[in-house]
This record gives sequence, structure tokens and C-alpha cells, in this order.
Amino acid sequence: MEVSATAADLKHRISGLRSRGRRIAFVPTMGNLHAGHLRLMERAREHADAVVASIYVNPLQFGAGEDFAAYPRTLEADLAQLRRADVDLLFLPSDAEVYPRGQAAQTFVEVPVLSDILCGASRPGHFRGVTTVVNRLFNLVTPDVALFGKKDYQQWLLIRMMVGDLGMPVQIVGVETERAADGLALSSRNGYLSEAERRVAPQLFATLSALKDQMEEQGAVPAEAEARANATLTGHGFRPDYISIRRRADLAVPGPRDAELVVLAAAWLGRARLLDNVELNRPAPG
Ligand code: PAJ
Repeated sequence: MEVSATAADLKHRISGLRSRGRRIAFVPTMGNLHAGHLRLMERAREHADAVVASIYVNPLQFGAGEDFAAYPRTLEADLAQLRRADVDLLFLPSDAEVYPRGQAAQTFVEVPVLSDILCGASRPGHFRGVTTVVNRLFNLVTPDVALFGKKDYQQWLLIRMMVGDLGMPVQIVGVETERAADGLALSSRNGYLSEAERRVAPQLFATLSALKDQMEEQGAVPAEAEARANATLTGHGFRPDYISIRRRADLAVPGPRDAELVVLAAAWLGRARLLDNVELNRPAPG
């Protein structure tokens, strides 16, 4: 695996791949890699001849008082995993390479409306930081295709909207959530859980799955299903941030005729803010 630490070196290596006619797939990450990230690398290989990954803990997407300083940084283990996953090129930039004029002066990209709801409502500026860094990384890597996890459903949709709105020449692929055997969505932030919390954590997915069944099979009223899920999670010791049934296309609150839905949740368990979601289809009204 080749490693580039600077934009100039990356550009040189990307031109090398291009001159050999390689189709390039890109997987941006913040490191502390787990099987969810590796699934993205595997899927990337199916879409291209060369797989480029990045590891960059992007300060712009962390708010004041969030876990930027504590975010797990495990470079040696990450490098070993990326080599085993047969990644061709890793971009491992410093802050100065990503934001040469400094974070505060950086031109930003922001998708309106969708950036301000759900996780965006609890984390002001977070999604602006995400779209800004992904835009910058896309311009440096110039991928043909880029892969994102559906675990971060809102992020995946925001990236698709940014790419569509700006006519960016990159295909965006969403990858299903990789889970532990007990259902917990894999996440770098699961490391913040105590042993006791880790045993409770699968209740998030279990509760969303139960909500899906209530909606699909028992014709539940969305607001009531959300309230039940909220009470269940609170009973298990979570502090839910939101549990919300939305339209898959734009994460707006669904009207009665909307059938393609997703239930999204963010809930604190101890020090960890866990995210998960489950797609569901509401039966057409009779
Ligand atoms: P990070 O949290 O490291 O995630 C990198 C990619 O891995 C994202 O697309 C995320 O959705 C995906 N991912 C994480 N856990 C997953 C799981 N259990 N199953 C499937 N995919 C999973 O998301 C970010 O970094 C950053 O916001 C980034 C896009 C890199 C911009 O800084």
C-alpha cells in the first residue's frame, strides 16, 4: 500500500493510476477502523481497479465540547488492516494539507435544510464540516466512485445531495450497516461503552427493529410508535436524542401516502452517542 501525506504527493500518485487507466474508488474515514470500514473497502474493490482510502479526523465536523481530542487514533492497527484489505493508496493528511489557509478561513459547502435536522439539530455545524471536508477530499482524490455507510444515513443522503446539486462527477454508493452478532451497529464510538453498557447497547437496534414490525405489520401510528420506542430505550438506560420516522428520499416528516420510510435514532448511553436506523416500508393505504 502506498501512503501519501501531502496533497501534492497524492496528486502525483493519482495521476499515475489514471495514466494506467485505473478506475478509482474512494473511501473516506476518520480511522480507528473496524469491520464496517473494511466492508466499504471490500465493496470499493467491486466498483473499481484501484481503492483509495483516507484517514483524517476532521476538526471542522466536531463542535465545542465534543470528542475531537478523545476520538480514538489507532494508526498502526489501521495501517495493518488497510494493507490486509488490499487498499492501494492511503491519504493520511495533516490539518495544514486539508485546510491550507486554516480552518476558520476555509471555504465551506453546506446543504441547506437537511444539514439542520436530526443529528444536525443536536450538532450545529457538524454536517457543514462533513460536506466541506468530503468536497475537498473529492477534489484531491478525483474518484470515479465513493462509498459511504448507511449507518450514517443522514450523512450518506447529504453527500448524495451535495454531489447532485453541484454536478460533481462522482458516483455515490451506500453500503449496508455492519453489525456485531448481537445487532449493535459497529462504530468507533462503541469503545466509549463500559462492559455493562455494551450489554445494553444492542437494545437500540432491537427497538428500531420492533418499531419496523409495528409499522409494517400492525399499521402503527408513527407518532405512537416513536413514543413507545423512546420509552423502551429510556427504560433500558439510554438518553434518546431523537427517534424519528422519516421519508427515505429527503428525511422529511412523512405524509400519509409516503411508503418508503426509515426510522432514525440517536441515543446516549453513558459517554457514547450511538446512531442507528432501519429502513421500513409502510403498506399502501387501502
Ligand atoms: P467514520 O465514522 O470513520 O466512517 C467512515 C465511513 O464508514 C462512513 O461512510 C461511515 O458511514 C462508514 N461506517 C461506519 N460504521 C459503519 C458500519 N457499522 N457499517 C457500515 N459502514 C460504516 O463518517 C465519517 O468517518 C466522517 O464523517 C467522514 C465521512 C470520513 C468525513 O470526515
